[in-house]
Amino acid sequence: MLFRLVTPSIWVLLIWLFSNFDAFCSAVLYNSFSDLPSKTYDFVVIGGGTAGNVLANRLTENEDWSVLVLEAGGTNIDAFEIDVPFFSLNIKPQYDWNYTSTVQSGLNNRTIPILRGFILGGCSSVNGMFYTRGSADDYNRFAAVTGDEGWSWDNIQPFLALNERFEPPADRHNTSGQFNPLVHSFSGVNAVSLPGFPTNIDSMVFDAVDELGGIFHYNEDVNSGTPLGFGWLQKTVTSQGRRSSSATSYLAPEFISRPNLDVLLNARVARVLPNVSLTEHSTSGLAFRTVEFAHDLDAHVHTGPRQRVSAAKEVILSAGVIGSPQILLNSGIGNSTTLFDLGITPLVNLPSVGQNLTDQPSISNEFLVNTTQTFDDLKRNATLLNEVYTEFNKSGMGPLVDTGGNQISFFRVNESLTDIYGDPSSGKNSPHLEMVPGNGFFLTPPATGHYLSMSIVVVSPASRGSVTINSNNPFAPPLIDPGYLTSPFDLAAMRQALEIMFQYLSAPIWDGYILSAFGTLANITSLSDDNILNTYIRESSSSTAHPVGTAAMSAKGADYGVVDPDLRVKGVVGLRIVDASVFPFITSAHTQVPTYVIAERAAAMVKSVWS
Ligand SMILES: Cc1cc2nc3c(=O)[nH]c(=O)nc-3n(C[C@H](O)[C@H](O)[C@H](O)COP(=O)(O)OP(=O)(O)OC[C@H]3O[C@@H](n4cnc5c(N)ncnc54)[C@H](O)[C@@H]3O)c2cc1C
Ligand SMILES: *[C@@H]1O[C@H](CO)[C@@H](O)[C@H](O)[C@H]1NC(C)=O
Ligand SMILES: *[C@@H]1O[C@H](CO)[C@@H](O)[C@H](O)[C@H]1NC(C)=O
Ligand SMILES: *[C@@H]1O[C@H](CO)[C@@H](O)[C@H](O)[C@H]1NC(C)=O
Ligand SMILES: *[C@@H]1O[C@H](CO)[C@@H](O)[C@H](O)[C@H]1NC(C)=O
Ligand SMILES: *[C@@H]1O[C@H](CO)[C@@H](O)[C@H](O)[C@H]1NC(C)=O
Ligand SMILES: *[C@@H]1O[C@H](CO)[C@@H](O)[C@H](O)[C@H]1NC(C)=O
Ligand SMILES: *[C@@H]1O[C@H](CO)[C@@H](O)[C@H](O)[C@H]1NC(C)=O
Ligand SMILES: *[C@@H]1O[C@H](CO)[C@@H](O)[C@H](O)[C@H]1NC(C)=O
Ligand SMILES: *[C@@H]1O[C@H](CO)[C@@H](O)[C@H](O)[C@H]1NC(C)=O
Ligand SMILES: *[C@@H]1O[C@H](CO)[C@@H](O)[C@H](O)[C@H]1NC(C)=O
Ligand SMILES: *[C@@H]1O[C@H](CO)[C@@H](O)[C@H](O)[C@H]1NC(C)=O
Repeated sequence: MLFRLVTPSIWVLLIWLFSNFDAFCSAVLYNSFSDLPSKTYDFVVIGGGTAGNVLANRLTENEDWSVLVLEAGGTNIDAFEIDVPFFSLNIKPQYDWNYTSTVQSGLNNRTIPILRGFILGGCSSVNGMFYTRGSADDYNRFAAVTGDEGWSWDNIQPFLALNERFEPPADRHNTSGQFNPLVHSFSGVNAVSLPGFPTNIDSMVFDAVDELGGIFHYNEDVNSGTPLGFGWLQKTVTSQGRRSSSATSYLAPEFISRPNLDVLLNARVARVLPNVSLTEHSTSGLAFRTVEFAHDLDAHVHTGPRQRVSAAKEVILSAGVIGSPQILLNSGIGNSTTLFDLGITPLVNLPSVGQNLTDQPSISNEFLVNTTQTFDDLKRNATLLNEVYTEFNKSGMGPLVDTGGNQISFFRVNESLTDIYGDPSSGKNSPHLEMVPGNGFFLTPPATGHYLSMSIVVVSPASRGSVTINSNNPFAPPLIDPGYLTSPFDLAAMRQALEIMFQYLSAPIWDGYILSAFGTLANITSLSDDNILNTYIRESSSSTAHPVGTAAMSAKGADYGVVDPDLRVKGVVGLRIVDASVFPFITSAHTQVPTYVIAERAAAMVKSVWS
């Protein structure tokens, strides 16, 4: 007779619990347009990527505001392997946009893959997790070219702090002297930690620094604003050895369960549409507050039925350095002449849209080494991998908690070079070059041998490229031309990177460890033959996957640029761009941290406008 003991009010509670159970558990990740509870939100965020999820999180802190995120990719929840740092060297095409560059004249006419995350979290769900802020000069240049002191190094510190939560490494080793706690935040959203598994080259890497001196000096913290020298690599990895992405952090269960936040997956945005509001138009330009997208896009024929949603306050375009300019161009915002020729009605003439694409060319150089203690066998021996993967699953420890390398270093090119070509870097304390040692073959190793990898990167390149479209089908792939090594500075800088690498490996500590250069690197028998060096560079360079700048910030009233320093699209109302496309210059390191900083400050600016 249990029923009699249950009072009516408890029945009401039980029924309420059951009827809400589904929503409570599955939170607000929608897979179907028809399930969306509303077609109008205060804010619509296009792209649930690195930057987009910061906006989703921060704007829903205000319980009175509703936010919809439209993400083209699927959920990150079932994609366990992408959260294993070691597997980041080999992300499945399922989570990628599958872009290929145009023919690159600077790469001997090769085309190369341009990786972009196609999943909630965007590139932060698939990237190499390097946590590098760049230099203080980088942000001071942002401030100088935009005329907004808010972008200066000193003034972005609160936004770095909102993002970063520095944690102990996976192996909980004593990190004293490996970073400077005074320049870190321990209370932000996104986990950052030092390498959590030692490698047998760790001590050699720093011994070589001690042996050589000069440009090879220890830098206790490359994220202090002055990155030159050799330091320990900080990564967006948790104490449990897992990836921290914008999806796992800013959309963690306690945030994504907010009733005022909806996320629609598999929603491919075509364009933004103007709300023809005469008052707004006459005062400050067309208002773009409606978003058109295809929910069931046929990826092969690039079409599908379109749906619309609207923002009462703002549309935030966070589709990334490729997606954002493509959506602007599809919408009639760009170079009016080229848009007209493509059959797209030009609405706002902003010829900078898609221009000034900047990426950092890189080469992974490999050497055969005299040891078996590298990570190459993990990639070749399934039994061994299974052992460490089991360990990882059980304890969050072992070799899978790290990516390719445990250290990072930054250098400037010789002044003779900047005297000839000019200096594309942001200032005298900013690097042109990066070098990262890795205890194994960065990509897929050959069937035999053990390797040391030396990745070299031109982090302050002078070359510029573009993202354009050649179709009025909004879902056709865009043309991506990073213009790698089209500037003579970049080629010369890469030659110096090779020189620095060989100088570094000439340190006595490497004697008897390094056996020989592997592959076409063995072609380099002398550093004085520019032809041989240039051939090697043009044949071996690839992308770092750090493109920026296709919808750049410029000063208010400037005759170029796409957004004002507050990230509002010039000459338009209701539309802001918040992602890596707004960098006015590339920062001299990996690009996720500045993207997070831009997003945190953007959220603060949006809040202050509408509060
Ligand atoms: C393989 C790889 C490795 C990298 N390694 C590092 C690293 O180690 N350290 C580092 O600092 N940086 C790294 N980066 C770069 C860094 O991750 C990016 O610069 C940064 O994350 C870009 O953020 P974003 O918000 O601009 O774009 P994204 O994170 O790409 O977000 C854009 C989002 O918009 C979605 N989208 C695009 N078009 C549409 C559309 N039409 N409709 C709906 N949604 C759309 C995308 O699916 C994506 O989720 C790496 C990048 C890659 C790809
Ligand atoms: C990229 O290709 C894979 C298959 O190789 C596919 O699953 C994925 O959906 C593709 N990405 C896009 C954006 O179409
Ligand atoms: C690249 O293509 C251009 C145009 O077709 C050609 O002139 C040039 O010789 C090619 N370069 C190489 C290295 O093949
Ligand atoms: C960590 O190492 C430093 C210096 O090597 C030492 O002073 C400190 O006591 C150590 N901390 C712990 C918790 O062992
Ligand atoms: C924009 O237009 C849509 C319909 O197309 C409407 O729902 C929305 O309220 C409009 N927004 C503004 C701010 O006028
Ligand atoms: C717009 O594009 C055309 C080519 O289509 C080019 O000639 C023109 O210079 C561009 N306009 C600007 C202002 O860049
Ligand atoms: C590219 O960037 C440079 C430097 O900020 C600027 O002078 C130039 O006008 C930009 N070009 C375009 C097309 O926006
Ligand atoms: C693969 O690893 C296992 C487990 O460590 C080891 O026993 C085995 O000998 C390895 N196989 C080869 C071919 O090296
Ligand atoms: C580790 O856990 C993941 C997620 O549960 C699972 O897919 C994978 O197979 C596990 N790996 C091993 C070796 O048990
Ligand atoms: C750069 O400077 C270093 C040290 O001063 C010197 O050894 C090297 O030869 C120079 N390289 C070039 C290309 O000038
Ligand atoms: C490899 O290392 C061993 C010591 O670990 C040394 O005896 C041997 O000479 C080295 N081989 C070469 C080719 O340097
Ligand atoms: C290396 O040398 C081989 C043989 O001479 C040549 O075929 C190849 O093109 C060279 N590769 C590079 C990158 O220089």
